[in-house]
Amino acid sequence: MFPILIDSHTLQGRIHEMASDLRKAPGEEPLLLCVLEGALPFSRQLCRYLGRGVDDFDCIKLSSYGDGTVSSGTIEVVQDMAEDPRGRRVVVLEDIVDTGRTLDFLRRRLLDQGAEKVEIWTLLDKPDRRIVDVPLTGVGFEIPDQFVLGFGLDVAGLYRDLPYIGLYQEDLVQQQQRKEA
Ligand code: IMP
Ligand code: MG
Repeated sequence: MFPILIDSHTLQGRIHEMASDLRKAPGEEPLLLCVLEGALPFSRQLCRYLGRGVDDFDCIKLSSYGDGTVSSGTIEVVQDMAEDPRGRRVVVLEDIVDTGRTLDFLRRRLLDQGAEKVEIWTLLDKPDRRIVDVPLTGVGFEIPDQFVLGFGLDVAGLYRDLPYIGLYQEDLVQQQQRKEA
């Protein structure tokens, strides 16, 4: 229903490349840390291509958006990770870096907790929107300043399960709602 920005085939191809980059990247065995819920499809697919077990895989649930399409700026840990990051090389897996606030918060928190190294691998990057400069190790796609959805990304909890990245258009949602009414 939404215009496609990145189709499923292109996503899979790029995630495959990122997995091979991650496998070749220097450093100790990483603790993979998926930022819930948006990065789940990306993380799953990346792990599949990495061919690793789930021993060193953890999740953390952060919230910054509430139900809107504009970041609230306040980050909260909704559900903490289970593993101890102390002394670890932590590879954070994220769906999208927008203002950079979420990952700046998470990166600092992990370092405060004693992580030896924090790398950020994100499927999407919206560089035009950056407010806080956060170092990115892996980027799947740079995208323009438009609100996107699908492949984990949501609008108020909806559209996460689309297999592609689409451009959010409110008028399309309203049209659909009128049809259904
Ligand atoms: P940041 O803190 O502004 O970098 O925002 C990071 C979080 O905002 C991401 O992890 C997403 O959950 C959400 N986000 C940012 N841009 C979009 C978008 O275009 N679509 C859906 N979610 C987004
Ligand atoms: Mg996210």
